[in-house]
Amino acid sequence: MPGISHLRLGVNVDHVATIRNARGGRHPDPVKAAQLAIAAGADGITAHLREDRRHIRDDDIARLMSEISKPLNFEMAATDEMIAIALQTKPHAVCLVPEKRTERTTEGGLDVAGQRAALAPKIAVLNDAGIRVSLFIAADPAQIETAAALHAPVIELHTGAWCDAQAEGRRDLASAEWLRIRDGAKQAKALGLEVHAGHGLNYETAEVIAALPEIVELNIGHFLVGEAVFVGFTESVLRMRAAMERGRAIAFSSEVESISRKENAS
Ligand code: PXP
Repeated sequence: MPGISHLRLGVNVDHVATIRNARGGRHPDPVKAAQLAIAAGADGITAHLREDRRHIRDDDIARLMSEISKPLNFEMAATDEMIAIALQTKPHAVCLVPEKRTERTTEGGLDVAGQRAALAPKIAVLNDAGIRVSLFIAADPAQIETAAALHAPVIELHTGAWCDAQAEGRRDLASAEWLRIRDGAKQAKALGLEVHAGHGLNYETAEVIAALPEIVELNIGHFLVGEAVFVGFTESVLRMRAAMERGRAIAFSSEVESISRKENAS
């Protein structure tokens, strides 16, 4: 039997909190959005507690932990403050990301190769606490090798540069970025890493990347919240799931084809 794994969807609810915080108060509630996303087929929820608390706040994390029925992927910088919160909260997973106060969003991957010595004890302490560590990195061979050497079980490949190039119609750049992601996913899987991907994905790019069989989870936020303005949050998640299933079906049919090619050749 061909073994194409289910492609999980992690819905990032940060920007529901961004809208809430624009006016203060409690509406719209990111925890309610998380519950709707789960009912519409999300396999997990992602939330990024930034140092400046610009969207998700500490009490959102506490409520997500107690009020949602699927795993929480807690995105955070590898600072002492955040490590202490993670150890106290004990989410299913922690995704370590770089963080700059001045950026609008997480702009680049974590430089695990450059920060190897500083990251090693932090990854170890999270591993020891039974929290699944994911490193958000560029699809760069040296970064992927270092992630494996640091015993992180998971990497999340940064798809932002590819998505931006696609959106801007820069075809050469988009295809170069795509090849980096495709090869990075293969390299990571061969090193025993679980491979996730995310940042900047929309229906079209999610459908394309869903065809990479090494990738088992996509984390998507901003586009889903933006689409919710037009179609509602439940519908935007349902449409995303459908796009991912269409892309995954391609991975499945090419695996079946390659198995039958091998069988015919033998
Ligand atoms: N994955 C990681 C590690 C991220 O930092 C983000 C953005 O917070 C996402 C996925 C989701 O990106 P987007 O909001 O562009 O879908």
